Amino acid sequence: MDLDLAGKRVLVTGASRGIGLATVQAFLAEGASVTAVARRTTPELEATGATFLAADLATADGPLRMVEAALADDPRLDVLVNNAGGGTLPAEALSDPVGGDDDVWEQALALNLYGTVRTTRAALPALTTARGAVVNVGSDSALMPHRAPLPYSTAKAAINAFSRGLAEQVGGAGVRVNVVTPSATRTSLLTSEDGVTGQVAAAMGVSHAAVLDGFPEQNGMLTGRLIEPSEIARVIVLLCSPALPSAVGSNWALHGGSVKAPA
Ligand SMILES: NC(=O)c1ccc[n+]([C@@H]2O[C@H](COP(=O)([O-])OP(=O)(O)OC[C@H]3O[C@@H](n4cnc5c(N)ncnc54)[C@H](OP(=O)(O)O)[C@@H]3O)[C@@H](O)[C@H]2O)c1
Repeated sequence: MDLDLAGKRVLVTGASRGIGLATVQAFLAEGASVTAVARRTTPELEATGATFLAADLATADGPLRMVEAALADDPRLDVLVNNAGGGTLPAEALSDPVGGDDDVWEQALALNLYGTVRTTRAALPALTTARGAVVNVGSDSALMPHRAPLPYSTAKAAINAFSRGLAEQVGGAGVRVNVVTPSATRTSLLTSEDGVTGQVAAAMGVSHAAVLDGFPEQNGMLTGRLIEPSEIARVIVLLCSPALPSAVGSNWALHGGSVKAPA
C-alpha cells in the first residue's frame, strides 16, 4: 500500500525513545522528512538521521520556540505528531486519592496537555496551508480513569476532548486531527525502574521483574504481551496518510483487549 508520505514534512515530539522514536523510524521508512523533538537526543535517534531539535515542551514558551525553529528554514509542515508525554510523578501522587497537590497537577498538565495545545497552536497555520494532519497520542488511562495517576489520566482525557473539538474546528479547512490511544507499550515509561511498573513494584514491596511479567494479564490484555512501540507507530503513520482522507476526529485505541468497553 502506498501511504503517499514520501517527501512530506513531519514533526514528531517525544522522539528520542519509545513510541516517538518508532514513529520517526516509520515515517522515514515511508520517505518522509522528519524533525524530531525531545529535551535530549539519544544514539538511537541520531542513528535515524532525522533532524533533531532540543526543546522542553512543558515550559510556557518551549513549544512556540520549537515550532519557529523547525519552520525557520522551510515553512512547510504536513504532519504533526504530539507524542511527548508521561513524565514522572512522585510516588505519593499514586496513593493520594486526588492525585497529589497543585504542583503535581501542574507538572502533569504542563507536559501532557499544554505542551500539545501550545505545539498545535504554533503549528496550525503551516498545517492549514498544507491541508495536513495531526495525531495526538492519548492513553488508555483516559478511557479507564480509575487508573492512577489521576493528573496524567485527566490530562489525557482532556487531550481526547481537545482533539475531537479541534477536528471540528479545522476539518473544514482540510486539516485532519486524530488520536491514537495506546495501552501498555514496551517503553521506558512503563518498563524502567522509575517508570510505571518500577513504581508499582516499589509501592507493593515486590520485585520489579514480577510486576513486569504479570503486567499484561493484570492490565486485562488478552494477548499476554506488551504492545511494541512499532505497532503504535504504524497506526500513527496510517492516520497521517493522505491514503486515509476520511480519518477525521477518530480515536484509534490499540490495547490488546485491555479496554473492555467500546472506545
Ligand atoms: N508506554 C506506554 O505504555 C504508554 C501507554 C499509554 C500512553 N502512552 C503515551 O505515549 C507517549 C509516548 O510515551 P513513551 O511510552 O514512548 O514514553 P518514553 O519512552 O518515556 O518517551 C517519552 C519521550 O518524550 C520526551 N519528553 C519527555 N518530557 C519532555 C519534555 N518536557 N519536553 C520534550 N520532550 C519530552 C522524552 O525525551 P526527553 O526525556 O529527552 O525529553 C522521550 O523522547 C506519551 O504521550 C505517553 O503518555 C504511553
